[in-house]
Amino acid sequence: MLQKTVDFLCEEIRDKLGDFKPQIGIVLGSGLGELADEYCDLAIPYSEIPGFETSTVSGHKSRLVFAQIDGKNVVMMQGRFHYYEGHSIHKVVYPIKVMKKLGVETLILTNAAGAVNPAFSPSDLMLITDHINNLGVNPLIGPNDDEMGERFPDMSEVYTPELQELTLKIADKLGIDIQEGVYMASTGPTYETPAETKLARILGADAVGMSTVPEAIIARWAGMNVIGISCICNSAAGINARTLSHEEVIHAANVAKDKFKSLIKGIIKAL
Ligand code: HPA
Repeated sequence: MLQKTVDFLCEEIRDKLGDFKPQIGIVLGSGLGELADEYCDLAIPYSEIPGFETSTVSGHKSRLVFAQIDGKNVVMMQGRFHYYEGHSIHKVVYPIKVMKKLGVETLILTNAAGAVNPAFSPSDLMLITDHINNLGVNPLIGPNDDEMGERFPDMSEVYTPELQELTLKIADKLGIDIQEGVYMASTGPTYETPAETKLARILGADAVGMSTVPEAIIARWAGMNVIGISCICNSAAGINARTLSHEEVIHAANVAKDKFKSLIKGIIKAL
């Protein structure tokens, strides 16, 4: 059903956009939504978009924001859908398919994550170099939309190497320290047990979170360029003796938000 509605929905959105054709898509993670408050030419609440859900997570707004930033046409998701909210994996990635159909060529995925790499500190930014899908589900399961992508897509380079280089260059130019590493997604909503944190590290992860991987898979499959940036909000459970809370995550995202916004703006300018 979702596959069929995407064309119809895009027609409706295009009517609202007029000449504006988004080239860059951004998914704004927990506590990082301010960019869409700063730049907003047109906002469409998810409640008005068939197939979209309202985010149930505090710290997430629920709207699609269109804006021109540094001469580039950008669409931002202020609030994303998570698998742990009970949405089907197909609902989680539906907005990415919509972005693709609207003309988005480059997708910037952001998230809040916990560090399993002990060298990382809260409020660090981490460029995602690769991911591990530990969700137990893949958003491409089901009939394949051959027009959008192939049945068995290669995932050797999910995060576009040239754009990783560009991101590092811009961070350097702006004087922003940025870590690099592998992001592992689990379903949540529980944070990890200390044993799971240990496992994630053994598997090769540097950070853990509850999002991004489904969207990245769809974007890569559909031939988009992908950049992933995590805001490290806490050390994952077991790395130090403290317990974790969503408030702590939002607080760390708030501390990081200015450098995060500068980096994203720098990337948009350079794209
Ligand atoms: N684990 C999983 N997801 C997260 C974390 C974490 O420690 N912090 C922010 N999102």
